[in-house]
Amino acid sequence: MSIHIAAKPGEIAESILLPGDPLRARFIAENFLESPRQYSDIRNILGFTGTYKGKQLSVQGTGMGIPSFSIYANELFRDYGVKRAIRVGTAGSMREEVKLRDLVFAMSACTDSGVNRNRFGGRDFAPTASFGLLKSAYEIATARGWNPVVGPILSSDLFYGEDGDEWKLWAKFGVVAVEMECAELYTLAAKYGREALTILTISDSLISHELTSAEERQKTFTRMMKVALDTAIS
Ligand code: HPA
Repeated sequence: MSIHIAAKPGEIAESILLPGDPLRARFIAENFLESPRQYSDIRNILGFTGTYKGKQLSVQGTGMGIPSFSIYANELFRDYGVKRAIRVGTAGSMREEVKLRDLVFAMSACTDSGVNRNRFGGRDFAPTASFGLLKSAYEIATARGWNPVVGPILSSDLFYGEDGDEWKLWAKFGVVAVEMECAELYTLAAKYGREALTILTISDSLISHELTSAEERQKTFTRMMKVALDTAIS
């Protein structure tokens, strides 16, 4: 047992999916895993282990934002020996060509967070996806006819920024979408020598201010989950 996760040693699989929302973790466990078993409910951040296509797989919520995400990812890598972590989440589009419901695979993550400046004593680190996982996910998605956007994203600390236009500079430099956790996932995977990937669905647009409906989210999230599940066992 670690501080924030109640699992006993061996109860968490080497491959794990990491949605921000604990109820999405339960949805994935109940709809896609065979014989899922809940291993933690500390703070209602739920975690489950089951099998997927015959292989052990876990899924666990992380909460929103880098500080919450960092607690769970640290404990999963350090205390439970997780080898392969795939974040599944939502993101806001920052580019005209990135449409609502598109799948985005984060090749790298820029950030306005101070965590890596702290960690690296003011130096910059380049949080980068695992090439192997990115390649597998790309092949799995394109084989199903789901053409993902592959590119750099922004992991932001502020959902509600001050002037509302901060995102435009990142967009000008080709950053495709904004979420709030990926930079920490890629940094911790590098620290512990593990593999990581972030797979996102565009849920809103910072350009057009469109939002997906709850029903659309359900449908398109399923696509993202299927890619993540197949990539996790590839
Ligand atoms: N900003 C930050 N995180 C997000 C967004 C957003 O617009 N949409 C989904 N996650």
